[in-house]
This record gives sequence, C-alpha cells and structure tokens, in this order.
Amino acid sequence: MDISPILKPFKISNKLELQNRIVLAPLDMQNALSDGRVSQRAITFHRGRSRDVGLDVVGSAYVSQDGKPGKHSLSVSRDADIPGLTKLAATIHGDGSKAILQLVHAGRMTTKATTDTPIVAPSAVAAGYGDFPKPTALDEDGINRIIKDFLSATDRAYKAGFDGVELHGASSFLLQQFLSPMSNHRRDQFGVNLVGRLRFATILVTKLVKLAKSLSPNFVVGYRLSPEEHQAEGISLSDTIGLAAVLSHLGIDYLSLSLKNYKQSAFVLPEVTNVVKMFSKVVHCPIITVGGINSVDTLTDALNQADLAGVASALIDDPNWVKKLGL
Ligand SMILES: Cc1cc2nc3c(=O)[nH]c(=O)nc-3n(C[C@H](O)[C@H](O)[C@H](O)COP(=O)(O)O)c2cc1C
Repeated sequence: MDISPILKPFKISNKLELQNRIVLAPLDMQNALSDGRVSQRAITFHRGRSRDVGLDVVGSAYVSQDGKPGKHSLSVSRDADIPGLTKLAATIHGDGSKAILQLVHAGRMTTKATTDTPIVAPSAVAAGYGDFPKPTALDEDGINRIIKDFLSATDRAYKAGFDGVELHGASSFLLQQFLSPMSNHRRDQFGVNLVGRLRFATILVTKLVKLAKSLSPNFVVGYRLSPEEHQAEGISLSDTIGLAAVLSHLGIDYLSLSLKNYKQSAFVLPEVTNVVKMFSKVVHCPIITVGGINSVDTLTDALNQADLAGVASALIDDPNWVKKLGL
C-alpha cells in the first residue's frame, strides 16, 4: 500500500499550504470559559494535537449570543474574544499547523438557559428530538442581522490570525435548518422550494467570499455540511449535491463533509454507494472527508477518495496518534 500521500504537503486553492493531508476535524470540546472566551484548557487541547496535522479546524465558535450551542462553547461574537483567539491561533501556528475557525449559529438547537436570549430559527418549529424549546421565527431583519454577525466574526477570526473560516452547515445547526424542509416552513424568499431554502447560505457565502478576498487574497473560506437527514421529509442527497455545486460556483475554497464513516453509502438512494465520490463530481474545490479514520489503512483509503482526511475521535483519545502511526 502506498502511504506516501498522507504526508505529502497539500495546497488549498493555491492559498494555504498544509504540511500534510491530515486534518484535526472540528470539535466543540465544551472547554471555553462560560462567557465563551478561550480557556487554558482549550489551548492545552490544541497544543500538541495540531503538531502533526496539516490543518486544525477549531470547532463551533458562535457568531451571535443567540446562536451559542453549549454553555462552554467558544465565542467569536464580540471584539473581546479576539485576544484569546489570537493566543489559540498562535498556539496552532507554533505547532506548524494551519488554523481555521469554524463559525456556527445554533438556531433552534440550543436553549435560553445557554444563550440568555430568545431562541430563533427559520420557522417556529421545535426540533423533534432533544430538549429544545419551540423557537421564534426570524424576520428578515433578524436574518440580515445574523448574516452580519457571521461577517463580523470572520473579520475577528482574521484579526486573531486564523488562516480562514469554515461555515458550520452540518449537525442540524442554523444553516442546515434553512436548508431542511423539516425546520424551514417559510413562505417567503427564504423557503417554499429548494431555491428558497438555499437562499440563506447563498447570500451568506457570496458576502463571505467577497469579505475574505478583501481581508487577504489567501484567506480561506470552507463549508461543512451533513449530506442527508435520516427522516424521509428531511434533507436529501440531491439537496446537498445542489448546495455543494452552488457553493463551489460561489468560490468556496474547500468542502468538508460531515460523515459517520468516510466510505458511507447514501441512506435514501441505495445506488449511491459512496457519498464522497458523488460530491467530488460536482465541486471544483478540495474535499475533506471524515468518519472512522483511525489507522494508516483507513487514512490511505480515505485519501484515495478525498483530498484531505479529518480525524476526530482518534486525536481526542491520543494527541500523539499521528506519531504512533509510524509514518
Ligand atoms: C466531542 C465531539 C465534538 C464535536 N464537535 C463538532 C463541532 O464543533 N463541529 C463539527 O462540525 N463537528 C463536530 N464533531 C464531529 C467531528 O468533527 C467528526 O465529524 C466526527 O466525530 C466523526 O469523526 P471521527 O470518526 O474521527 O470521530 C464533534 C465530534 C465529537 C466527538
């Protein structure tokens, strides 16, 4: 088996040179201070874990107070967050890795006890699972405010020294809620059909790509999505394939697929035996895969299908996991 691709440097969109093709997948370890600032525990978590990977994607930094996913999630919602984030980016860079900040708004997947604000979402529909309240439907002013919050957060990530941002469009958070017919019952331009359900992401990515270019020609914009929802009335693979094609056209620098297993087949379309290969046919940017990558064999196999291999559990359990592969 040829294992050399794992340790080969890789350039994302001619912008960001990675020392190898392993990515520390985004992780919300609930280790920020209760007001969202970076803690020493967060620095310690990333120090060492980023040393042997090409890219460290810092998970779930919330862009608005009402989009805070958990009590100890990381904040990028205020200028006061910049000094701590600067330390975190410098720690990752000091390890020789590149640093991306994942931006999130939780939408209906949070509680007032966490945010201390009303809970907002595309429609006033509670999630069918978990202990989450019925949210208030966003009006257009609310939607525009959250788009602005994502842009301000990007500006802060840049000021803190991150090499780029990744939009968290997976795990049933706000971006996915706009896309999903289960959570988006709107009858205005942000709903009704697939074009409407894609509109929030389309407007946001268009503005974000423009902002990123104005900050630095090398500032990277990525997008992470969950390819499907399990419920019949949820997001289908054809929805997310359409989204990926649009995102690629709008100029994202990479697509990250949130998968349980890097070689999973589609839930709904049994003829789609490899989800990653399906996406690679419609996008012109690198793809990060993830899910169950825990050995040289799985890394090598994953990198035959995608450009970069995300690793979460193995690196949570052991910061020295890459070293121990004996590559
Ligand atoms: C504790 C924990 C926290 C996670 N937090 C995030 C997150 O903030 N953002 C995200 O996109 N995915 C998150 N994930 C998903 C991982 O990035 C990854 O996709 C998943 O764990 C599968 O990879 P693995 O098999 O290597 O663990 C999290 C996973 C775990 C276990």
